[in-house]
Amino acid sequence: MMQTTLSFLCVLLPACVVVVVDAKPPHIVFIVADDLGWNDVGFNNPDIISPNINAMAQRGIILNQSYVQPACTPSRNAFMSGYYPFRSGLQHGAILPQQAACAPTNRTFLPQELKKLGYATHAVGKWHLGFCNWNCTPTYRGFDSFYGYYNGQEDYYNYTIFGGFDFRDNKDVATDQTGNYSTFVYQERVRQIISAHDPTTPLFLYLPLQSVHVPLEVPAVYANMYPNLKTDGRRIFSGQVTAMDDVIGNLTSFIKQKGMYNDTLFVFTADNGGWTEFYGNNYPLRGGKVTVWEGGTRAAAFLHGWGLPKTGIRYDGMMHAVDWFPTIVSAAGGEVKNKDIDGMSMWDAITSLGPSPRNEFIYNLDDTILPIEGHAAIRQGDYKLVKGFPGVFSGWYLPDQEYDGHADQRERDRHLSGELGPSRLYNLKDDPTEHSDLADHMPDLVKTLEDRISVYMKQYIKPNFPADDPDSNPDKYGGVWTPGWC
Ligand SMILES: *[C@@H]1O[C@H](CO)[C@@H](O)[C@H](O)[C@H]1NC(C)=O
Ligand SMILES: *[C@@H]1O[C@H](CO)[C@@H](O)[C@H](O)[C@H]1NC(C)=O
Ligand SMILES: *[C@@H]1O[C@H](CO)[C@@H](O)[C@H](O)[C@H]1NC(C)=O
Ligand SMILES: *[C@@H]1O[C@H](CO)[C@@H](O)[C@H](O)[C@H]1NC(C)=O
Ligand SMILES: *[C@@H]1O[C@H](CO)[C@@H](O)[C@H](O)[C@H]1NC(C)=O
Ligand SMILES: *[C@@H]1O[C@H](CO)[C@@H](O)[C@H](O)[C@H]1NC(C)=O
Repeated sequence: MMQTTLSFLCVLLPACVVVVVDAKPPHIVFIVADDLGWNDVGFNNPDIISPNINAMAQRGIILNQSYVQPACTPSRNAFMSGYYPFRSGLQHGAILPQQAACAPTNRTFLPQELKKLGYATHAVGKWHLGFCNWNCTPTYRGFDSFYGYYNGQEDYYNYTIFGGFDFRDNKDVATDQTGNYSTFVYQERVRQIISAHDPTTPLFLYLPLQSVHVPLEVPAVYANMYPNLKTDGRRIFSGQVTAMDDVIGNLTSFIKQKGMYNDTLFVFTADNGGWTEFYGNNYPLRGGKVTVWEGGTRAAAFLHGWGLPKTGIRYDGMMHAVDWFPTIVSAAGGEVKNKDIDGMSMWDAITSLGPSPRNEFIYNLDDTILPIEGHAAIRQGDYKLVKGFPGVFSGWYLPDQEYDGHADQRERDRHLSGELGPSRLYNLKDDPTEHSDLADHMPDLVKTLEDRISVYMKQYIKPNFPADDPDSNPDKYGGVWTPGWC
């Protein structure tokens, strides 16, 4: 539906006529929390202190079945392009700093589509869609401005990863914030963007925050808000969530102060599940980041603000990361013309609280063997089929525990020895925590879903997961990770 004002003229006419008055498109703030687990937000877990996020979610629409990819780069590719990672060569985990790889440059990115609708577009935070060539970087892919880092993680204070510095203001290396906590630095940039923005122009602000990815770093005041947690890791991690929440609250205030709040649609989503090994948590869901289990892929997500007729609910319709691209374009009053994308607009379904147009999606397809073994997973209706190795940390994990990654490698070893069998089937409606494998009881459905995977495999392209390129070395560029080597 276009952004509209509806009024019903039922008095004078024989039938009700809906008068559609075009209004200007909303401002859109798209917040991506990095490695935030299902059980890492206050609206799913009261032990987490996130009052601003909770209030926005509860006065918005919580998305109960909003799926993402199991890792950062693949989800961001889906958000920005509307294409599945297995059709983009990005299904095999995250792009590593030394890899000459990036999201296919032949695809229209979300900000490019929004610019056609008159939007000003800004990205603040983590890119992680490749930077070996300038054409891979945000200001070449539709963003008017970029402030943040190109890689997948770095120190929150000194902005380095693997011995190279990674922080940019547009294309320029920016060292002036070194020593400041990144989440606050992004808040300050957001304040400046909003302050300088002309509210008559629709704003698209993409805010893929560094929070709450490793390394575990947060000003002590936030970690100290969790005196009852027994592990330092979970205490710091929880503090990271609270620091992020503080910043999201302040960002909302900036938008209110500017008088833009009523015209702003907020989208909030995790990029993947919490990383169990590093104190993220998805309980009671199974598994976590890097797995195709629900804990790795069912995102903490909500919509808030402009255009939502009814709030305070959980929308249970199925959606996937690829859907954000056409959904956001619909909210903006446009329509994605490219029918080749995998995403479908959820805007009408969510705003009418109707059934989701989506009944099926691919969690991931990856035929690579090492270092992360191959897997395939699909959802159709209530059922989910998992083939191959779902990923390390495939169990159920309570928060505030120490988990030893090496111990969990045993499951991987069992898989390599063939012990776990080829296909597993779960009924997510009855068994959202994936305890009961039904494959032996429902061989016909297993066959149907395996056949669906074969259909998708016709569109499969091999992962673009090259060996480290020595030309990436930041020492060649004054100690800074810099484009220009692919
Ligand atoms: C765009 O790039 C992808 C990934 O490299 C490739 O598979 C696809 O064929 C390209 N599409 C077009 C239309 O060139
Ligand atoms: C940045 O911080 C990391 C710890 O996260 C440390 O190992 C590294 O030496 C620091 N780098 C610089 C340049 O200070
Ligand atoms: C850190 O942020 C503060 C407040 O925005 C600013 O005054 C300062 O210049 C920044 N940089 C450093 C290195 O502290
Ligand atoms: C957020 O705003 C509050 C109220 O102005 C302030 O006390 C707090 O320091 C701000 N948080 C950050 C991270 O700047
Ligand atoms: C925003 O909407 C609320 C509720 O409809 C209204 O009370 C308020 O005045 C509006 N604010 C602005 C700035 O338009
Ligand atoms: C959300 O999903 C859970 C399954 O994980 C289900 O039990 C619950 O009923 C759903 N909530 C709503 C409001 O549909």
